[in-house]
Amino acid sequence: MYIAPRSGALSLPGANKNMKAFLLSALSLILGNTTGPECPPGLLGSLADFESWLQSESVIAFNKLVDNIGGYGTNGDAVINGMPIASPSRLDPDYYYIWTRDAAITLAAVVDKYFKGGAHNTTLHAILMDYIRSSERLQRVTNPSGDFTSLSGLGEPKFAVDGSPFQGNWGRPQRDGPGLRASTIMDFINTCVLLSETTHSSFADAYWSVIVPDLQYIQKFWQQPGFDLWEEIDGHHLYTSIAQMRALSQGAYLATELGDTISAASFAETADDIARFIRSTYWSFGQERLVETDTTKRSGLDSATILAAINMVTVPNRTLSDSVDLYPWSDDILQYLEELIRSMESLFDINTMRIQQFATAGKNTNLTGVGIGRYPEDVYDGYGISRGNPWFLCTTTVAQALYAATQYFASRTSSYTIRVTKKSEVFFDRFLGGFPGYSGQGYELSPGDKSYECLVSSMFHYADSFMDVVRTHMDQSTGQMSEQFYRDNGYMCGAADLTWSYGAFYTAAEQRASATKEINDFIGIQTC
Ligand code: NOJ
Ligand code: NOJ
Repeated sequence: MYIAPRSGALSLPGANKNMKAFLLSALSLILGNTTGPECPPGLLGSLADFESWLQSESVIAFNKLVDNIGGYGTNGDAVINGMPIASPSRLDPDYYYIWTRDAAITLAAVVDKYFKGGAHNTTLHAILMDYIRSSERLQRVTNPSGDFTSLSGLGEPKFAVDGSPFQGNWGRPQRDGPGLRASTIMDFINTCVLLSETTHSSFADAYWSVIVPDLQYIQKFWQQPGFDLWEEIDGHHLYTSIAQMRALSQGAYLATELGDTISAASFAETADDIARFIRSTYWSFGQERLVETDTTKRSGLDSATILAAINMVTVPNRTLSDSVDLYPWSDDILQYLEELIRSMESLFDINTMRIQQFATAGKNTNLTGVGIGRYPEDVYDGYGISRGNPWFLCTTTVAQALYAATQYFASRTSSYTIRVTKKSEVFFDRFLGGFPGYSGQGYELSPGDKSYECLVSSMFHYADSFMDVVRTHMDQSTGQMSEQFYRDNGYMCGAADLTWSYGAFYTAAEQRASATKEINDFIGIQTC
């Protein structure tokens, strides 16, 4: 049996280059040239280099994502049309399957690209239409989670690439899939209506045959436990509940547009029920913060919550229940983000080394981004069980949340005030800790204040520093990303060419581009 190389870091093509980049950046420290506006606080090199890498990698990442889609990519020959494989890796680990979740999340990146291109790209349109058709087909495949008639089969997490059921043991059902899938399809429909002179009614078939079953699945099963997005524990999970609530809110809007008023009311009602459930279930009074899961098997700090928060950000025509304010700029999420990052800073050797390196260069290490893993107690190393590592998609998700919050703050008018609260204090301390007059809880700042400008630019630099972590550990010569990078030497590991790593990178880079526009209108990017 062939065993793919894993810890033999030197056998990985990107490894030597990564080490070289690491040494070169260390050298540039000794030679100086690491401060000043051309070298922002979150980076050791120049902003211009960073931005040109970001731009080219964003294009590469999107192309590599498409490469994993059935009917469109070089890795997708045997795969049903419009569905991505999680990774082309077929052995150690075997990720050569269609996961409902990975598919919905990465196709959401395709919708975003289609939207940004003004709905003109016919290939992207074809991919998304195929995704709808193949979703309809997979929904009707009887599988170990159940069947279509009872709707239970919609909770099945993964399928073989030809669309046949996967019969092996697995953590099932996973109840985030139907909501994620329905949301991606509704985002696509809304984009088409907004940009290409079509009407909602031209998507009535997709609504009745694909979206309604997914939404009815949620209505029937949302109260029941299921496996989390990491496929490990059975219970209720914030990420899953948000995916369910978001889909039903969007569904209520679409149903109204299509004249299905009875369903619209019913979807909206369940969305509100789930919103109440979220409020009452995922707050820990002991820890005084959100928790990702209602089981006590984990501390509750988990990048899944940040993934949920970025999923809350509105896209065209998406209307969400106001009763759950878990946007990236909300107090709950800012507090949680800070606590998650802190838990990761000291967990991985590569993080402490990076912080040390920035300190040696005379940088403000509060703005040094680090590698982020799934959750602190993680033991999955990408192949089996040992110790968890930082993940590409978790690291870019933290960056995306910071960009989204930065964009939000940069686009407020002068009447807006941030009031530092007991919850958000830990977060704001990071950026304003040394700022003259800053006093923590109770401190107020508004657009136009120096402290507000400092906050906005520092958050942006900090977000860049997380993207820079990805730059350090990916294969810079090919633009490839796997699932994880080793916690103590930084070499890539886990499934190669993970579709989700590429999708997450692309959306984080897009969020940066939108944030940049707002900041330029506001103050321009500066260093304080
Ligand atoms: C594979 C799953 O996809 C992953 O999430 C999990 O951590 C490992 N199996 C270990 O159980
Ligand atoms: C393991 C991850 O934990 C899970 O979220 C993902 O769906 C699968 N790998 C496939 O990428």
